[in-house]
Amino acid sequence: MPREGGSLTPPEGLQHLWLPYCQMQLAPPPLTAVGTEGCRITLADGRELIDGVSSWWTACHGYNHPHILHCMEAQLQAMPHVMFGGLVHEPALTLASRLSKLTGLGRVFFSDSGSVAVEVALKMALQYWRNRGKAGKDRFLCFSNGYHGDTLGAMSVSDPEKSMHKAFRHAVIPQFVVDIPADEYAFSELDALLAGVQKELAGIIIEPLVQCAGGFRFHSPDVLAELRRLASKYEALFIVDEIATGFGRTGSMFAFQEAGIAPDILCLGKALTGGACGMAVTLASEEMFSAFLSGSRDDAFMHGPTFMANPLACAAANASLDLFEQEPRLQQVEAIEAALRDGLGGCESLPGVVDVRVKGAIGVVQLRPEIDSYALRPRFVERGVWVRPFNDVVYLMPPFTISGEDLQALMRAVREVVQ
Ligand SMILES: Cc1ncc(COP(=O)(O)O)c(C=O)c1O
Repeated sequence: MPREGGSLTPPEGLQHLWLPYCQMQLAPPPLTAVGTEGCRITLADGRELIDGVSSWWTACHGYNHPHILHCMEAQLQAMPHVMFGGLVHEPALTLASRLSKLTGLGRVFFSDSGSVAVEVALKMALQYWRNRGKAGKDRFLCFSNGYHGDTLGAMSVSDPEKSMHKAFRHAVIPQFVVDIPADEYAFSELDALLAGVQKELAGIIIEPLVQCAGGFRFHSPDVLAELRRLASKYEALFIVDEIATGFGRTGSMFAFQEAGIAPDILCLGKALTGGACGMAVTLASEEMFSAFLSGSRDDAFMHGPTFMANPLACAAANASLDLFEQEPRLQQVEAIEAALRDGLGGCESLPGVVDVRVKGAIGVVQLRPEIDSYALRPRFVERGVWVRPFNDVVYLMPPFTISGEDLQALMRAVREVVQ
């Protein structure tokens, strides 16, 4: 079977790997990456690919940014890791203060991946209501096409039918799943549903403005603001999952800010470290936090990942925030948005295309569902670009630092392959 875009023999050791979301009996052997720099990935055979995916949407400043490397190297010499129970450290203190200022949420809880940040958010919401003496508020309202991660709690609030979690549908806690309302009628239906389930409802969880892994579907800031209003009306915590959208991807630093709202709980991850290493956070309002303060240890928040607030990851995240302050990232996103509108717009008239949409540095070409988008993957590698269509979408989420030339090359490849 040919490799994904080549014909070399599979790498030694592949027989011991178990790859993610991958039917390993059918999938072509993966390519071996040996280096990254800027917006390029270098392969073992010497080829260079222009990256249109930012390593699952993390590498917002491109790869190996010297400022991030420098800060991580300094931290590596001082203290690569120390436990966060009973001890704190300067990189975490600084990062928590900066994130709190950027988001308006007073408290930061560290974890090691986006899925865990979502678990933490759900557990915070459940324990909040218990601590407030409201028993029975232990279900969540979530949305069709939503995706919040791969752990059991995160799967329970993701789309139960269309996400990659179908196989676990029987095993996860059932939640209330609705379509994101698009008009007044849908909102009045949702209002009625919420009125009926208020006593059971702990929170509403949503990916703001763009549902990413569920097919890059967009909704408006007005819809988000109205959902926030309904959450308050029916005593539900409003949980905003910005793991994919946060740090500029939709055009503003955080997507929820476009709706002028304040979440009760916010999840961040992915681009938090500029893509240099794994880390995530769950932020909560001071009001949320105050529900965990009492004379009883039982009221303390019961969670604590071993590697939480890893100092190396905190150093990377602080360096990434420096770059947002020092370099014109949001202007770069604006320029990418304009280029994507221009460059992908032409795909609309192609026979296999159902829709083309752009928001910030996210460009989406939606294909007719019968088209096997996975079969298109090697064609991108043949053209020297790293683009990974899935289900019915071909999408671009490049690093914000991508040059105009490289972005044009990505879009040219999308046009040619889709054609
Ligand atoms: C919105 C959202 N939430 C949560 C996650 C899970 O993050 P992780 O893969 O770091 O566990 C993802 C990952 O794609 C995501 O897009």
